Amino acid sequence: MNNTINIINQDALSALQEIKTNSVDLIIADPPYNLGKDYGNNHDLKGFDEYLTFSLDWLKSAYRVLSNDGTIYVFMGVRFVSYLFDILDQKLGMYFNSWITWHYTQGMGKKKGFSPRHDDILMFNKSAKFRFNLDSVRVPQKYFRRRNNMTGANPGDVWEFSHIHYSNPERENHPTQKPEALIQRVVLASSNKGDLVLDPFAGSGTTLRVCQQLDRNCIGIELNPEYVILIKNRLKERFIEFDSIDPRTNRIPRDLPNRVDVKPMDLFGNN
Ligand SMILES: C[S@@+](CC[C@H](N)C(=O)[O-])C[C@H]1O[C@@H](n2cnc3c(N)ncnc32)[C@H](O)[C@@H]1O
Repeated sequence: MNNTINIINQDALSALQEIKTNSVDLIIADPPYNLGKDYGNNHDLKGFDEYLTFSLDWLKSAYRVLSNDGTIYVFMGVRFVSYLFDILDQKLGMYFNSWITWHYTQGMGKKKGFSPRHDDILMFNKSAKFRFNLDSVRVPQKYFRRRNNMTGANPGDVWEFSHIHYSNPERENHPTQKPEALIQRVVLASSNKGDLVLDPFAGSGTTLRVCQQLDRNCIGIELNPEYVILIKNRLKERFIEFDSIDPRTNRIPRDLPNRVDVKPMDLFGNN
């Protein structure tokens, strides 16, 4: 593999200034959600307006460095996702592509109200012309049907991936590590081998690790020097397989029951 993986230990706002305009093919941004998480040398708790100003500032820079046929994915929690949508859509005039829901089955329990079990991922393009490698990310169909594409279905915009649990050997010492298979889907769908991927909030280095294995070049920016050490060590580890999987990946398409009581609704494919 000849790809280059660069880690920059700096504030994303200043590091982004040093990246060339239109030079990045794909941005995967998982910023702090402003929920008070402890990221060691930075505490994720700003005032409401301060957080929106921070978001607008880094997103403006991200827009500048993104190539004209590039794509950005922004992870966000429910509290601020609509404000970030507004920045991408209205303030930056980007092209809305998909609002992805990442569903997981474990998390904090709420006593009054429904326990949160998803994060949102906003996908925007810089122009109407962009790459999307659907064939690289198809999942097995549920049923054999003549009208289904039997090479696999579009994964849709609700994705299920388990968190990497603290008991898991692949769990890094970072509070919000994302599953590698989720990032793998994003990288495969929206970049090609040799492309440049940018992660302005690298955390435990999931994006860098995935890019390292998928032959993409990658720049990761991370404010906390301890996480930078963690990333460097993670990149040196022997690779066996990604640490997570979409449960549909192992699905084997089934024959449809040949019964007269199957209603048209039951037959909808999922291309
Ligand atoms: C949500 S986490 C990213 C997790 C990452 N996707 C992973 O899989 O591990 C956000 C990260 O952004 C870092 N961070 C916070 N403010 C930053 C800033 N202004 N510039 C760069 N990194 C920052 C935090 O230290 C934290 O590691």
